[in-house]
Amino acid sequence: MNRIEITKAARFSGEVTPPPDKSISHRAVMFSSLAKGTGVVRNFLRAQDTESTMHAFRALGIEIEDKGDTLIIQGKGLHGLTEPADVIDCGNSGTTMRLLSGVLCANPFFSVLTGDSSLRSRPMKRVIKPLSLMGARIMGRDRSTYAPLAIMGGNLIPISYDMPVASAQVKSCLILAGLYTEGKTLVKEPTKSRDHTERMLPAFGAALQTDGLSVTVSGTRELSCQEIDVPGDFSSAAFFMVAATLIPGAEVILKDVGINPTRTGLVDVLKDMGADIGITNFRAVSGEPVADIVCRGTGGLKAATVTGDMVPSLIDEFPILCVAAAKAEGITVIRGAEELRVKESDRIKAMAMELAKMGVLIEEYPDGLSIQGTDMLRGAEVDSHGDHRIAMSLAVAGLTAQGTTTINNASAVAISFPHFFSTIQRLSA
Ligand code: S3P
Repeated sequence: MNRIEITKAARFSGEVTPPPDKSISHRAVMFSSLAKGTGVVRNFLRAQDTESTMHAFRALGIEIEDKGDTLIIQGKGLHGLTEPADVIDCGNSGTTMRLLSGVLCANPFFSVLTGDSSLRSRPMKRVIKPLSLMGARIMGRDRSTYAPLAIMGGNLIPISYDMPVASAQVKSCLILAGLYTEGKTLVKEPTKSRDHTERMLPAFGAALQTDGLSVTVSGTRELSCQEIDVPGDFSSAAFFMVAATLIPGAEVILKDVGINPTRTGLVDVLKDMGADIGITNFRAVSGEPVADIVCRGTGGLKAATVTGDMVPSLIDEFPILCVAAAKAEGITVIRGAEELRVKESDRIKAMAMELAKMGVLIEEYPDGLSIQGTDMLRGAEVDSHGDHRIAMSLAVAGLTAQGTTTINNASAVAISFPHFFSTIQRLSA
């Protein structure tokens, strides 16, 4: 499983229900744990990242009944968590660590958050700094730059904070911390990031107001548990969208996919490049827009330019966009995407390095890439850099390349999509 071989696909067709949304699954467990009553999370994502969140809340005294795709959570309210007996391991999950840090800073006990080597090298000052302004006692390694994070929770005060970088994880961390203050906490982003927290928390009883790029949260006495249905993950669907677009004659129907507009920038970029993508059967599920997406392989994509304000709405889709660009006519330029350097891997470096092995002319910038499309993509031995989205993107590249592509460290897909390889096998068989 850690080494997978992919060969060029002659066909790629069928129906796929992508795995449940990762961001929404994390939040559903967190908010249910922090609310009073019995929470139900249906269609919960079973993958390493979201299981890190489950383990964390169990370590904080929350009872979670595991019925596979459904979780039953006995919420203990905003002040019901108990001191963990050991360090909490957040694994590879930035969402677990950053959102949880906001909660733990407000809870009157000692806790330590750590993670795997990737997570321990990702920037944590972005949460430590504003939480400290709220009065939190939180420290990290290397002068509070990295995890492990040590937290002694206590009373917090509300702040107004201009975030230097658009980040749903930082925004959500501060919203959760703001729930514990007496007053109003305002968080302003430079560009809008995904808004799942703003959509879900009010259903639990939180007073939240959104005004353009600002969110204001009022201190809240208590939250109450809800039933949440998690939609399919757009970011997992994205790999099939690009594969279908690139394979002539392909037709893939992606069912029950979350199409929250703060997530779907890739559809706009691919359509501009000439892709045949249709969205049908619109509906709403637990406050999130959901639809089916139909993608057909017509070939003949044209290069794209992606800059600044567009970046947050496709932040997790850049690795797979690089693959589309590698097969498009012309030079695709991506700028203003320096955040990609601090994801699960340095995604700019990883994609530049691995696509170059497959014969792509590619140039790295500090904040992006330029990619010269080719119709001569060739199979090669490539590496996921331990990053789930790099592994899946390289697999899609392999489906469209001559010969065989061998992906090392392929088991990284289990972070968000354990059945990824069997699903692409089914569509290409
Ligand atoms: C996430 C936010 C994004 C995204 C990550 C999940 C979330 O990270 O890349 O995969 O669930 O809030 P940033 O907040 O760092 O942009």
